[in-house]
Amino acid sequence: MKVLVVGSGGREHALCWALAGSPLLTKLYCAPGNPGIATVAECVNIGALDIPTLVGFAQDNAIDLVVPGPEAPLVAGITDAMEAGGIPCCGPSRAAAQLEGSKTFTKEIADAAGIPTALWERFEDADAARQFVRRRGAPVVVKADGLAAGKGVVVAATEDEALAAIDAMMDRKVFGDSGAAVVIEECLVGEEVSLFALCDGEDALLLGSAQDHKRVGDGDTGPNTGGMGAYTPVPSFPADLEHACMDKVIRPALKEMARKGMPFRGILFAGLMLTEEGAKLIEFNVRFGDPECQVLLARMKSDLLPALQAACDGELRDFDLRWNDLASVAVVMAARGYPEAPQRGSVIRGLDAAASVPGVSVFHAGTEAKPDGSILAAGGRVLTVCATAPDIKGARDAAYAAVDAIVWPDGFCRRDIGARAL
Ligand code: AMP
Ligand code: GLY
Repeated sequence: MKVLVVGSGGREHALCWALAGSPLLTKLYCAPGNPGIATVAECVNIGALDIPTLVGFAQDNAIDLVVPGPEAPLVAGITDAMEAGGIPCCGPSRAAAQLEGSKTFTKEIADAAGIPTALWERFEDADAARQFVRRRGAPVVVKADGLAAGKGVVVAATEDEALAAIDAMMDRKVFGDSGAAVVIEECLVGEEVSLFALCDGEDALLLGSAQDHKRVGDGDTGPNTGGMGAYTPVPSFPADLEHACMDKVIRPALKEMARKGMPFRGILFAGLMLTEEGAKLIEFNVRFGDPECQVLLARMKSDLLPALQAACDGELRDFDLRWNDLASVAVVMAARGYPEAPQRGSVIRGLDAAASVPGVSVFHAGTEAKPDGSILAAGGRVLTVCATAPDIKGARDAAYAAVDAIVWPDGFCRRDIGARAL
């Protein structure tokens, strides 16, 4: 099979790394890819959102399967465009990707399917939103309805914070049209986990769960990021709870999506809060998490490629996936200034030494290769250092040993990834 992965982050490097090992693979492309991905795939200089050019490339090169990594091309309709061009694509249609693209859509699906979630209300009028906040009080969560690069959610501890979020989103339009409507929610309290399922429109297979570290600083301090590290398995989310959430969250969502005529194919990512009243849905994403993908794929024993193909073809019913018993920890290294203003251009050394620590894989995200082969920082999240070992402590020690082998004075990472599991 000839496969085209779309994206350029650590998640896509891990997807390419896993697909490259498939005996079914004859050729792997990644658009646009990055210097790490270039070691396992042929990178093609087409942007992840340049859908017409991607379709043309897939047709010209007789691609058998397209695997989009990030949400933006899915929400923009890459799956529909590929299928219209005769190319199978393992991701949700544009209609089904509304599960990530619209908070309101997700809450309506959750309510219709009986999925436990925070109480919510939607507002298109800023004054009505402010009145609601004054009536309800804090803590409360204010969300821009549309995509806002992971920044459109404010967990407000005080009424003033919530009112400021409404001003920013609805009056000052800091997220453009994404903030034209807001969803205001009850604030859930508990341990947050991410559950992943591979879906074929009707059936779903568990891919596992992980815990992300969203804030930039140790001890969950500072601004939100795309994710500074992850680990699996999560002790507070054992296998029986994972399976219960497949039945209470993932499968009801699939059923409701099919009923609405927009069957969900691809990877469904449920952000869950483990509250005193049980697990509740925070949000859906329509793709793998980054860096959750890296830790999950490090535990996968089965061949990823036929699994993605079966999801695409609606044939997951008789499919089975095997996993190793290892624990996996991923530490994200970011460029100084991330998430506000990451500095570009600093040189990164010691990558080979890091990758030679037993159990370690170093995935690239925002990197750039110079003609002389040196690697520079070229983004916010720059590397994911991922390690497996028999337990979380071992995986964590190996990941940090590899981090310490990397010579990059202008980079930083959190030092407490996986600490909650110990
Ligand atoms: P994201 O949508 O990924 O940017 O995530 C926003 C973050 O806000 C989540 O990961 C949660 O930590 C938090 N969050 C979102 N909704 C709620 C809620 N109803 N209660 C508490 N925390 C929430
Ligand atoms: N790490 C969180 C996400 O990918 O959305």
